[in-house]
Amino acid sequence: MKIGILTSGGDCPGLNAVIRGFSKYVFKQMKNVTLYGIADGYGGLINGEYREMKESDFSGILNMGGTILGTSRQPFKLMTYEEENSPSKLELMKKNYKKMDLDLLVTLGGNGTHKTAALLASEGCNVIGIPKTIDNDIWGTDVTFGFHSAVDVAGRCIDNVHTTAASHGRTILVELMGNKVGWLTLYAGIAGGADVILIPEIPFDTGKVIQAVADRAKSGKDFSIIAIAEGAMDVEEADLKKKVRMSKRAEQGYVTVTNKLAKAIAEGAGVETRVLVPGYLQRGGNPTPYDRLLSTELGCFAGRLAKSGTFGVTVAMKNNAVSYNLLSDIAGKTKFVPTDHQMIEAARSIGISFGDGKKYGFGG
Ligand code: F6P
Repeated sequence: MKIGILTSGGDCPGLNAVIRGFSKYVFKQMKNVTLYGIADGYGGLINGEYREMKESDFSGILNMGGTILGTSRQPFKLMTYEEENSPSKLELMKKNYKKMDLDLLVTLGGNGTHKTAALLASEGCNVIGIPKTIDNDIWGTDVTFGFHSAVDVAGRCIDNVHTTAASHGRTILVELMGNKVGWLTLYAGIAGGADVILIPEIPFDTGKVIQAVADRAKSGKDFSIIAIAEGAMDVEEADLKKKVRMSKRAEQGYVTVTNKLAKAIAEGAGVETRVLVPGYLQRGGNPTPYDRLLSTELGCFAGRLAKSGTFGVTVAMKNNAVSYNLLSDIAGKTKFVPTDHQMIEAARSIGISFGDGKKYGFGG
């Protein structure tokens, strides 16, 4: 069997552990396997950049962050775009799939990667996806690899700013990754002991956030920590289309809402505010032991699917059991945080504010 493997989209801890799990499985459990490492995601498949890899290439990478294959972002909407007299990226990928004589393409990636994987599958390629992202927003799986490593980093950032916030009596807003969804901010916020958690799924009322900070000050706590997702928005912004929202922010000199909110809190609550953006630190570094386990399990399961000839699917974790979904069922869907999620309920029950004025037990 000839197999190509690639990692696509933003990197995250666990990619190498998945690659290792998959490759070790196929080399040990299958006969006559040729494995090609495709460089820089779909970019390598488009440009025909790949090399044959041996089992020894996958040793010593379990705990390594990043990806030994390299990655790139190849927007899905440009895959079928045809420039005059040149084939689309999709056509080039299909051509190289044939040229490499592949029996299977394994794609490690997030939502965009899965959309392209589904497209390739619908065009006759044999594809198995594996769900990667620190955003944890892939439909049909309870968890994606990389998420818990990012929670670890982000949670510790929130943890660590407590001492400086408390010493100076400041309110610190920690802006975490998550353009569309708030999983990382919700989990890291709770794990790090944030007082306010703001996520895209729950647009916030600036007045309520100011109130939460002021209430803490009144109760004798002159510092507060706010975990805010980069995609968070206030209730006024939530009524706007994304393009309008972004251009309004740009006019005011903002990309995210965080600095605007920091200013509003400083004025409204009469406190000193600071903003911390850990950024790519959340995607960097080594996978946690949990992610090494999850990645190994998902990678090995993808190997099992390869062995059994189960294609057009992506690996998933459902109720702690490793399983799979059809690519065509999950592609293009986003797993948002349900606003009544048990973590949100737990957070509300211990007094964490989501800036929407709702309190635990009052419902609606
Ligand atoms: O997809 C993961 C993610 O980390 C998002 O949370 C973030 O918005 C995005 O990647 C930014 O990545 P890049 O700057 O690499 O495009």
